[in-house]
Amino acid sequence: MDSILVTGNGPLNGQIPIAGAKNACLTLMPATLLSEEPLTLTNAPRLSDIKTMTALLQSLGAEVSSLQDGQVIAMSSHNLTSQTADYDIVRKMRASNLVLGPLLARFGQAVVSLPGGCAIGARPMDLHVEGLEALGAEIELKDGYLHAKAPGGLKGAVHEMRFASVGATENIVMAATLAKGTTVLKNAAREPEIVDLVECLRKMGAQISGEGSSTIEIQGVDRLHGATHQVVTDRIELGTYMLAPAICGGEVELLGGRMALVESFAAKLDAAGVSVTETQNGLKVARKNGRVQAVDVVTEPFPGFPTDLQAQMMALMCTAEGTSVLEERIFENRFMHAPELVRMGANIEVHGGTATVTGVETLKGAPVMATDLRASVSLILAGLAAEGETTVSRVYHLDRGYEHVVRKLEGVGAKIERIKGE
Ligand code: UD1
Repeated sequence: MDSILVTGNGPLNGQIPIAGAKNACLTLMPATLLSEEPLTLTNAPRLSDIKTMTALLQSLGAEVSSLQDGQVIAMSSHNLTSQTADYDIVRKMRASNLVLGPLLARFGQAVVSLPGGCAIGARPMDLHVEGLEALGAEIELKDGYLHAKAPGGLKGAVHEMRFASVGATENIVMAATLAKGTTVLKNAAREPEIVDLVECLRKMGAQISGEGSSTIEIQGVDRLHGATHQVVTDRIELGTYMLAPAICGGEVELLGGRMALVESFAAKLDAAGVSVTETQNGLKVARKNGRVQAVDVVTEPFPGFPTDLQAQMMALMCTAEGTSVLEERIFENRFMHAPELVRMGANIEVHGGTATVTGVETLKGAPVMATDLRASVSLILAGLAAEGETTVSRVYHLDRGYEHVVRKLEGVGAKIERIKGE
């Protein structure tokens, strides 16, 4: 297995290009199942999760080609052969469950494996099921699979979600595009990836309003047509690399970044003593003077502080002046990076969903292990700021969500290399 070797090397300066959003692409790809005409995505990120979604769509009979070095994904679902998402693929990636809504809407049936446990918590699908049932679906759990049927077709309805789940919002919105009549989804998630999905669905002929607010209204249509859509910038990759100059010093411009994607995160950086300014080409980040100051963080649905940046923010807080409290409210069990950071000399105490971090002047390089996608990159950030060498193993987690991480960080002066394993 490959590992990544990082050597602390002082301030970082230069530019980092930000890719299209993994999480947007993973919901835009299943949207192809809604139409028999082609859907083409541009600005797609080159990631193993995208390959997993490609394999899933192909297993359903969709044609999926990767063009222009993977940045363009051309898909067609004119000749689907299956409506079953198999456990072997779904267990690798929870976002596989996003085929449920589209398959059900277009074919009146779908069989999708439950994802099972995942490293950062239980992650059930009850909110997806409740929403689709409100649209008239009959859903049964048999042998670990959700068997969904809508014999007379889906019908628009008013539905309020108990929690603003991102995936459930995406599944319900996609399903409602082909339902009869109007659906009003209340307490919908407001993430930019949902706005991006709706913009794409609209290009395909869907009638939707209210995306980005907590009420989304969908007027069902008989059919959707083909479209070409550019995937929105990855705000989590953006936030991750914003932390690189924050933790190491220096000044880095994140190309393609926009403040609207990371407002609450940038406000925390500002409070910590890191300046974030908009430029013509993106966002420029620089640490103001000396050590950053400790700030408290609570993760929340968008527009709150994203859970997907909590691990990386913790790495920064490990080197801050003072004590910060990080509260994780979206996922249980999302502090697996804490014991690894402690191996690098960090001072962290975890109690339930709260981590208390008292900053130390310098972290020390150490061999550490990535436990999930965002945890892995938090260890790289910590390694960049540490004295000596840090080896991060289990890098396959990183490959799920960060393309060309070595090249991007080398480009701003980091000392980082990938070591090929057995
Ligand atoms: C998406 C993102 C993920 C991010 C998360 C929260 C993708 C591919 N993934 O995941 O990176 O961390 O949003 O911003 O876009 N829940 C239930 N029942 C459900 C669905 C969810 O209880 O039916 C719970 C989950 O266990 C979790 C919380 O709700 O505790 C948030 O989940 P959700 O918003 O659905 O996240 P995902 O769509 O899985």
